[in-house]
Order: sequence, then structure tokens, then C-alpha cells
Amino acid sequence: MADGLEGVVAAETVLSHVDGLGGRLVIRGLDVGEIACGLGYEAVAGLLLDGFFDALPRGHALVTALGAARIDVFERVERHVADAAALPPIEGLRTLVARLPDGDDLDTALRLIAAPAVITPALVRAADREAPIAPDPAIGHAADMLRMLGRPADAARASALDAYLGVVSDHGLNASTFAARVVASTRAGLTSATVAGLSALKGPLHGGAPGPVIEMLDGIGSPDRAEAWLEAALDRGERLMGFGHRIYRVRDPRADALKRVVARLARESGGTGRLAFAERVEAAALAVLRRRKPDRPLDTNVEFYTALLLESLGFPPAAFTCVFAAGRVAGWVAHAREQTASGRLIRPQSRYVGPMPDLAA
Ligand code: ACO
Repeated sequence: MADGLEGVVAAETVLSHVDGLGGRLVIRGLDVGEIACGLGYEAVAGLLLDGFFDALPRGHALVTALGAARIDVFERVERHVADAAALPPIEGLRTLVARLPDGDDLDTALRLIAAPAVITPALVRAADREAPIAPDPAIGHAADMLRMLGRPADAARASALDAYLGVVSDHGLNASTFAARVVASTRAGLTSATVAGLSALKGPLHGGAPGPVIEMLDGIGSPDRAEAWLEAALDRGERLMGFGHRIYRVRDPRADALKRVVARLARESGGTGRLAFAERVEAAALAVLRRRKPDRPLDTNVEFYTALLLESLGFPPAAFTCVFAAGRVAGWVAHAREQTASGRLIRPQSRYVGPMPDLAA
């Protein structure tokens, strides 16, 4: 039996390929580096959905359709945001997405892809007792997400968030995508599959790591303290957040793609100090991990530079996982459609190792 299903191929997909030894991620035929270079989230979502809906709009029509979907989501959830904001943001997001109608059609798909980009800023603002800002369907998805947050949405920031959402849009059969496919395989609907994806993304071993990366950086404080701090964390039996991966035995290619985005944004905003500090911490962490875990190749994963990027865009660490969901949701929806189009009910077996009834008694 494969512990944690490691090495088990549980689906065939046309959506993305994760090469763990080569350190390569291909999404619908494109290297992740190309996706990070200005393709745009709407175009990435269009690529992922291509072939799964007959009337899928293309190009600018998809930008317009997603803008309309943001308005639709806003109108459906606005009055429930204040209540959901009492929860941690990822739970608030899950609660509000669960209120959206279920279905398997294109409108449902676009509404779901729009939802985290609308709901996340509203939850962040509600936590600060600020009213939600309605979407502007005339601008791009990423720019609108920043605008709804009430943070500067200049072109540099919007294109950094746009790149991020595309980079994390899909990644093989990770835990949340698998959860979404299992639920989709029962024909429960795209909203149910997305709620399953959100639930799986919440934990620190999957999408919940970037918030703790900021806690780690803040706890370390200055580069000269990095090694001692990291050693002490490992001595306490903790894991270093933003490092290690089930599939990659080398550096996660998304880490470098996002590091370039962070570096560009830092140069344009004139503040490269935080990045330089993070690079020193990263180098110290890799050295400590090599020394402490010589038999397990552990390298930087997507979450390390995600944390820096989302921090510099003004998202609070508590909401980082929701921003990850705003990118990954296109992958969940596409996988859910692929599963219902070509897959059977996912129903593996377990081996019973408990006691049997005593038939003689
Ligand atoms: N820090 C310290 N040790 C680690 C780390 C880490 N980040 N990651 C793995 N290890 C060690 C484990 O302690 C274990 O050591 P042992 O054999 O001496 O007990 C060994 O490496 C193997 O660990 P597993 O848990 O079997 O590896 P798995 O493939 O299940 O873990 C995971 C992958 C969950 C991502 C892990 O590396 C981890 O916990 N990383 C930190 C959290 C993180 O960054 N998560 C985000 C991942 S990216 C994403 O999901 C979007």
C-alpha cells in the first residue's frame, strides 16, 4: 500500500504535468515560466477550461464574462460577508462559496472562478470594519481584485498578481485538486467540488503555508539570527514552511517564477530589502535542511515566494490561502469537468486491520 498514495497515478489529465525530478511544471503545453510572463489569468483560465464547455468565450469575451461573473458573485454574497468575516478568512471564503448555486454548466464555472477574487477582498475589508467594494467588470481580474481590496492597483502590482494567479492555477493531482475530483466524480456539481478543494487547501501542509512563512521571517528578524532560529524550530520538531514537496525532489519551478515577479515588483517600488533578507533566510534554511535531513532532498517550494509577493501586494497573511485559491480555482473547475467527462466514480478500497467478530461466541 502506498502511504499517502505516494507514486500512485489516480487520473489521466490534459491539464498539467509536474516533473518532480526535472523541476518542471507544464500547464496545457506551456512552461510555468511562460505563464508568469504576462499571459494573464483570464487567458490561463481559458486554456484550462478549453474543451470542457461548448460555448466557452475566448479572448476579450472571456475577460468580459469573468467581469460579469464577479458582479454576479458580489450581488449574491454581499449581505453575508459581515457574518463570514467572523471566521478565519479561508473558512469565511469556504462558507460564502458554499452559498453559491451548484451546477455543472459554464455560468457556474465562471461564477466559481470569479468567487475567491471577489470574496477575499470583501472579507479582508470586513475584518477591518470596512464596507466591501463592488467589482469593476471593465478591468482585468487581477487588477480588480486589488482594487476591491482598496490597495494601490497600479499596473506593476496588477501584473504581479496576474502572474501569481496564473502560476498557481494548476499543479497535477495535489491534495485539493484530488479532493475536488473525488467530489466531482459523484456528479455532485462544480460548487461542491470547489468547496472540497477549499477545505483541502486550508491545512498548513498544502495551501496554508505562506502565512507561517511570514511568521518565520518576522520571528527570525535579521539574517544573522536565521540559522539559530531555524535549528531551534527543527529541534522543536517543527517543519520549515515553504520548503519540501511530495513530488519535487529539486527546486519547485514556481519558486523561481515567483521570485522573478517579486524582484521586479521590488525594483519598481524601490524596496528590495525584504527580498534580500528572505534570500538570506532561504539560503540558511536550505543549508540547515541539507545538514539535518541528508537523506531527503528538501528544497524551496512555491509558498516561500508566494508569501513575499502577497505581502508586498498588501494582503494580510491570514488571507494568503484565499489568494492562492483565487488562482487554483480555475484548475479545480477544469479538473472537475475533466473528471465528469471522462472518469468513473472514484472509489478506492481499504484493507481492514481491525478485529473480526468472534463467530464462536
Ligand atoms: N521542514 C523540515 N523537515 C521536512 C520538511 C520541512 N519543510 N518537509 C519534509 N520534511 C522531512 C520530514 O520531517 C520527514 O523527515 P523524517 O523522514 O526524518 O521524518 C521527511 O522530510 C519526509 O517528509 P514527508 O512528510 O514524508 O514528506 P511529504 O512528501 O509527505 O511532505 C510536505 C510534503 C507536506 C509539503 C512537506 O515537505 C512539508 O510539510 N513542508 C512544509 C509545509 C509546506 O511548505 N507546505 C506547502 C507545500 S506546496 C503546496 O502544497 C502548495
